[in-house]
Amino acid sequence: MTPLIEVKDIGKTYGSVIALRDVSAVVNAGEVTCVLGDNGAGKSTLIKVLAGVHRHDQGQFLVEGEEIAFSSPREALDRGIATVYQDLAVVPLMSVWRNFFLGSEPTVGFGPFKFLDRRKGREITRTALAEMGIDLRDVEQPVGTLSGGERQCVAIARAVHFGAKVLILDEPTAALGVKQAGVVLKYVAQARDRGLGVVLITHNPHHAYPVGDRFLLLKRGRALGCYEKSEISLEELTRQMAGGAELEALAHELRGVAG
Ligand SMILES: Nc1ncnc2c1ncn2[C@@H]1O[C@H](COP(=O)(O)OP(=O)(O)O)[C@@H](O)[C@H]1O
Ligand SMILES: [Mg+2]
Repeated sequence: MTPLIEVKDIGKTYGSVIALRDVSAVVNAGEVTCVLGDNGAGKSTLIKVLAGVHRHDQGQFLVEGEEIAFSSPREALDRGIATVYQDLAVVPLMSVWRNFFLGSEPTVGFGPFKFLDRRKGREITRTALAEMGIDLRDVEQPVGTLSGGERQCVAIARAVHFGAKVLILDEPTAALGVKQAGVVLKYVAQARDRGLGVVLITHNPHHAYPVGDRFLLLKRGRALGCYEKSEISLEELTRQMAGGAELEALAHELRGVAG
């Protein structure tokens, strides 16, 4: 099976800053690839390359086996790569259903007699959300009244509805409480079960582990490792994330200070 996305030894610099170097990863249909790392690890840079926001300047980027360098997010979207950014591109005062379509609302009539088909728009939105198990009674309510978790869910349902093959989520659970994070992870799993390849960025191994099929650990732009789930336990993933040996050294040092 050809991966939906494959990057081989990819690199990206911003001027003199090496944001990413020699990073390799795959994203398969019906699987979740997690990207983990601290602030500044290069997580956002990696997904911006995948999403067509930035161009890589080293290595190979393949989409369904074809080598590619996107020159805009539109091109990535046309290839079925949908990205949900942390600061969701929603219009808070606009209704849930208008945000669901954002510019591609259904219309009735033609030419100067073209009008928004509100009824149809509401119905499609309600159905698409219901199919993902999201029950929103009133899709006419402003999106700003939804919780952060619900907004992420609407964005995920939107990508699924518009036929995305790859769904990229940049820290979707970072600002959420335990319960809401769980709800978002449930929809991540649903998108995966519908056959999408998901890229989940997080710095929380407890969020990544239950839904992830493989884990790419980044540190200062480099890959610390890439593991299939069968190759690593949650404990080991957590230890590596926490800096493993570094943390042990720190603990030792702190004991010294206390003593
Ligand atoms: N637009 C940019 N211009 C210059 N440096 C950047 C830019 N974006 C990110 N960086 C730098 O690249 C490195 C990786 O950043 P980023 O990909 O945002 O990491 P993460 O998402 O893991 O926190 C950091 O050192 C950051 O300061
Ligand atoms: Mg980031």
